[in-house]
Amino acid sequence: MQKIVNKINKGLKGAVTIPADKSISHRAVMFASIAKGESVIKNFSKGQDPLSSLNVCKALGVQAEFDNELLIINSTGKLNTPSIALDCGNSGTTMRLMSGILAGQNFNSTLIGDDSLSKRPMKRVIEPLSLMGAEIKSNDFKAPLNIQGKNLHAIDYNSKLASAQVKSCILLAGLNAEGKTSFTEPYISRNHTEIMLKYMGANINIDCKTVTIEKSILEPRTIEICGDISSAAYFIAAGLIVPNAKIILKNVGLNPTRIGILEAAEKMGGSIEILDKKIVSGELVGDLQVSYSNLKACTIEGEIIPRLIDELPVIAVLATQAEGTTIIKDAQDLRNKESDRIKAVVTELKKIGADIVETPDGFIINGKKSLKGGTEVETYHDHRLAMSLYVAGLICEKPLLINGFEWVDISFPEFEKLFNSLSL
Ligand code: S3P
Repeated sequence: MQKIVNKINKGLKGAVTIPADKSISHRAVMFASIAKGESVIKNFSKGQDPLSSLNVCKALGVQAEFDNELLIINSTGKLNTPSIALDCGNSGTTMRLMSGILAGQNFNSTLIGDDSLSKRPMKRVIEPLSLMGAEIKSNDFKAPLNIQGKNLHAIDYNSKLASAQVKSCILLAGLNAEGKTSFTEPYISRNHTEIMLKYMGANINIDCKTVTIEKSILEPRTIEICGDISSAAYFIAAGLIVPNAKIILKNVGLNPTRIGILEAAEKMGGSIEILDKKIVSGELVGDLQVSYSNLKACTIEGEIIPRLIDELPVIAVLATQAEGTTIIKDAQDLRNKESDRIKAVVTELKKIGADIVETPDGFIINGKKSLKGGTEVETYHDHRLAMSLYVAGLICEKPLLINGFEWVDISFPEFEKLFNSLSL
């Protein structure tokens, strides 16, 4: 689907409620599926990725039904042998987390994905799971993954990557393994798994960069899912760079392991006010007020990277409007996402007039540059590219034509409707 984005001349005003967090939605449906009894999930994401997780759980015999805004999950606490291959669609989170759950079952299963997911690296989960005794056959460490369920044993794993998907996979395998499993990461990645497992009664302990888990039975719960800061990121960026914008973003998840974008925006001189904070199902949540700001360049590197990894494409757009040279480094794993996001961002932003250079582990962006538009750009089957280019389009001199805009539905089907509600 092609989308034409026009420059916003009068600014952005008003308030939007940010839809449900994708990461938390995946975890809610998976963890409810292995807890015995009825769990109620409030505000489950409508994105295609979390729906892939839901469908995989259903194929494993879990009962799941929508009742208006509630998703009701009923499970015996045991998964059943699936009669079909488990289709993870475009979702790396589904494949990597489910492989941790499936490795310790008493049946055989196969995880498959779309073309993009079938090219993404799975060695990062196959290797540690194998150390726990798992038996996984793959296509040169890529999907399809054939998992022969085994009795697992605990390991102490020191990960080179700061990846919440790898960490969650090993913790979920540890939930079903003999002994005490520990996972240590170089920097702290998002900790929704730890928060939710604790909320559901798992025997889990967090000590800085090391998480330890013991074999535990999960209890069913009511889980309310907050808004996704990774979805809010497009509104935050637009609010900061569209002249005369002043918008309120409601119900945004503010988990400290996810708010790198707020810290980076603050460093760049962006005006973002947190209006009120509360805890919902163990997660910190608040409303944000974002206003147009004169931005300055900054360097983004090191421990903040896992806390804003999914926001880097739209942060690159932000940096085109910041005075000076913004440097983003230590983000080499961005090349292993739904697309090679370093190459894709640089190629497409250059087309519209940005001064941006590709480096092995990030970008260098010289601002402030007026973006020309008046051209076609590509999304590489990547939802975050599509939404970042849309935000760039809002300040391009001439209309921007985005090809493959339908990929937005992977995480944020309500995206354009919400943007339109803010336009004057
Ligand atoms: C996610 C973790 C991150 C992120 C992805 C969602 C999660 O991936 O990029 O969109 O829900 O755990 P990595 O763990 O591979 O960094």
